[in-house]
Amino acid sequence: MSKSFDITIESLALPSAKVTPEGCGPEIIRAEIANPDAESLSFAANKSFFIETFGCQMNVHDAEKVAGVFLARGYRAAQTIAEADVVLYNTCSIREKAAQKVFSRLGAWRGMADGKIIGVIGCLAQQEGEDIFERAPWVSLVCGSASYRKLPQMVAELEAGGRRVMGLDLDTEETFETEITRRDNPLRAYVTIIEGCDYSCSYCVVPHTRGPERSRPSEAVLSEARRLADAGYTEIQLLGQTVNSYRDPSSRQLGFVELLREVAAVEGIRRVRFTTSHPNDFHREIVEAIDSTPALCDHIHLPVQSGSSRILGAMRRTYTRDEYLEKISWIRAARRPISVTTDVIVGFPGETDKDFEESVTLLDAVGYDGVYAFTYSPRPNTLAKTMPDAIPEAEKSRRLAVLQDRQRQIQIERNNKLVGATFEVLVDTHHAARAQWAGRSTSNLIVNFTSPHQNLLGEYVQARITRAAPFSLVGEQVI
Ligand code: 5AD
Ligand code: SF4
Repeated sequence: MSKSFDITIESLALPSAKVTPEGCGPEIIRAEIANPDAESLSFAANKSFFIETFGCQMNVHDAEKVAGVFLARGYRAAQTIAEADVVLYNTCSIREKAAQKVFSRLGAWRGMADGKIIGVIGCLAQQEGEDIFERAPWVSLVCGSASYRKLPQMVAELEAGGRRVMGLDLDTEETFETEITRRDNPLRAYVTIIEGCDYSCSYCVVPHTRGPERSRPSEAVLSEARRLADAGYTEIQLLGQTVNSYRDPSSRQLGFVELLREVAAVEGIRRVRFTTSHPNDFHREIVEAIDSTPALCDHIHLPVQSGSSRILGAMRRTYTRDEYLEKISWIRAARRPISVTTDVIVGFPGETDKDFEESVTLLDAVGYDGVYAFTYSPRPNTLAKTMPDAIPEAEKSRRLAVLQDRQRQIQIERNNKLVGATFEVLVDTHHAARAQWAGRSTSNLIVNFTSPHQNLLGEYVQARITRAAPFSLVGEQVI
């Protein structure tokens, strides 16, 4: 059974924070946390921190909680990396490129660290461990996400003059709870419901970097949701590497669907999203809950990874193409149209032209609203790394381009059908140069629209679609 602390969440919504998509999907974004007007507390008199985050939404949210650890210790958030006393790289190692990027960031501090504390946290920290100190001796903190609960103690050791601290414990039953979570997105609040992963997909480092699956008690999740609603948030995104594997460790023993319904019932919450779902734990009840609960967003991210049952077997995904398609048929039978997005890996070892073709035909069979496609990247400690019949990089790139091109066509066709429809949009962006506002529909489509109004940020508005593009819709506000 998971243990967990009782939490007090103090949400500090920070409109100034910067989140920059890296173009690889919802889970691959880079966030720079900068410039909150956080108060300086007592003991870290005037010390400041800066966190640069790579990777998935789980990482982005981890950074919000880690920032809370520093704020609670009296640090303030630095405006720039140069002025920070503590610089943390919150890292990703899902693909080789993400890992390389971090080493190049660390390399830039050679001979420049100059009394700063440089730390590496997250997946690459867990993966590389002590070797990071060898490669970059100016680093003094290395901590994987399963050890974040020890961060305050580790920081205290460094403050007391410690030279190096490390937290690489994967053998955990606990989740990371903080007294302060410094939220960077003023409109959408992330809430972790489950950490780690108990699957063992043969290509994936996550079980090695984030540890075993552990769910938070439902009451901890619900009280966080209520606090967020009180703080003015209307949209919550529930997070987990396999979010729908959620099992309440408390005596209430809620399942994922029951938790979804209870979060959606929190007064003031208008939109509940959840990511990422594993097809194996995807049941009809999830579709029924969306169908009957307006606050549950009509969007499901359901990574398929490959359209070939043979490759799915080699990937250890625990389902076949037909089983996956059956789940899609439940979604398509819903009374409320539900958009579906996915992740696909091309060029897995041994993937033949025929296997690849099955991934392309799957796109048509499902009719996805978005696909995040990646070339296979061999990772340390994974089964797939030792598999024969590697696909040459040039061929992987070719397959990626073919798949993306087909999906682009599908999105053009799907989005064209939406011209004339009206969507409720939560406005999150103003494009001053284009005199347009932008936001997301509940189905997570991006809608750019014109409006005679002056300030719509954070508002829910109705927008009628006048034009479709492959990755977004264009419209006008319905007055
Ligand atoms: N190579 C390429 N893509 C990967 N992913 C996970 N591991 C790898 C890998 N070794 C992709 C999967 C997953 C997404 C977050 O990243 O598609 O769903
Ligand atoms: Fe990785 Fe598979 Fe777990 Fe997803 S379900 S995090 S792909 S091991």
